[in-house]
Amino acid sequence: MNNFIDSVYHFSGQNTLELAKEYGTPLYVISQDIIENQISKLKESFKDYPMEPRIYFAGKAFTNKGMVKLLDNLGIRLDTVSLGEMVTAKEAGMSFDKLILHGSNKSFEELEYALNENINLIVVDSIEELELLNNLAKKLNKRPKILIRVNPGVEAHTNDLINTSRIDSKFGISVNETKDIINSIEKYPNIELKGFHFHIGSQITEATPYLQALDKVIELYKLALENGLDSVDELDIGGGFGIQYVDTDIEFDPIKSIKQILTIIQDYCESNKLPIPLVSIEPGRYIVGPAGITLYEVGTVKELDGIRTYVSVNGGMTDNPRKALYNADYKAIICNRELNDSNKKTVRVSGRACETDDLIDAIELADPKRGDILAVTNTGAYNYSMFSNYNRVTRPPVILLKDNKKSILVKGQTISDLLKDDLIPEWLE
Ligand code: LLP
Repeated sequence: MNNFIDSVYHFSGQNTLELAKEYGTPLYVISQDIIENQISKLKESFKDYPMEPRIYFAGKAFTNKGMVKLLDNLGIRLDTVSLGEMVTAKEAGMSFDKLILHGSNKSFEELEYALNENINLIVVDSIEELELLNNLAKKLNKRPKILIRVNPGVEAHTNDLINTSRIDSKFGISVNETKDIINSIEKYPNIELKGFHFHIGSQITEATPYLQALDKVIELYKLALENGLDSVDELDIGGGFGIQYVDTDIEFDPIKSIKQILTIIQDYCESNKLPIPLVSIEPGRYIVGPAGITLYEVGTVKELDGIRTYVSVNGGMTDNPRKALYNADYKAIICNRELNDSNKKTVRVSGRACETDDLIDAIELADPKRGDILAVTNTGAYNYSMFSNYNRVTRPPVILLKDNKKSILVKGQTISDLLKDDLIPEWLE
């Protein structure tokens, strides 16, 4: 698709220079059209499966009230991991039937809140939590539905910091321990076991690691049904579907890979005469990652003779910590210059933090100069949600685009927002 109209980069049909002028920079821009398009590909992948898909958006990728409302309108559920995310969902008016609660160390307060709100599902991450939840539910006179997060011990080929299902991991319950739970479920009368969950990591590009995990987890589904646990009817295969940040990345193809996973589930159930389960997915990055760009203004351009050119922008690791944390790759465009500008040169894009906070090590850009507007693409996931106020920098606003409409989704912080929580102890006065 040609995103350049009259030499200006248009995102989701809108002129990025005008957006930068109207809202200032840095600016997080999110396209509702792209979110809707990503969701329709996910829905499409379930087309031949006999059960309705259960698509939970992983809130950790990008949560705020407007986003929850949009997801709700599109029939998407929410995967939450904290009181903050659950309360955001409540404030946005999403019914707790649509919510799932995750976390490897949920607080007592979070569990109690989830139980009191009759959350649809709690994903139990340890045997200790199972006991705690069973006791808490008894006290509150509740019987929550749960999934067990199984650690299938699979090596997904992704960054170590976002690989979550090798044996040596804080997440989940081993396959053998899950079998013990199934075989002694009467010890937990105050919970209703609905099924099993796994999440093997993030930015995964193919079906293979899911199939390896499924191979083990589907046996647990069979064991539970053989043991007469009729309430068990759901398999949640987590999120982790990768996107194309740079040209060398391969995007996870749901139409191919989810279909492949669903076919294996269906075939297994048919040959073992088991009921076909509900299948849930929990993508975050896939839904919102490609839907976001960040607009910056170029400031200092420093030529280091014979070394490289540093192009500094007015944001950096505060609004996008993924390069600093995971050495993540990104692409960028100078919005006010023709895409095929002949005057391109390879530069390093750096942030404004008081440390080396490069955003892109080396990229060809159309001769960046002070005052240019630079768009970093694919920043919709884990940028806004991982923002920090390092260097006392304020969070940029987030705007949402839909057709030719635009609106603020999250206001930018002001310096007074930062100051309002500061207190000076009386003995320092
Ligand atoms: N479900 C569970 C239980 C998860 O832990 C996660 C992500 C997801 C779903 C969604 O994964 P996704 O579809 O977004 O890959 N901050 C890192 C990503 C950490 C992901 C943690 N869990 C990053 O910026 O790459």
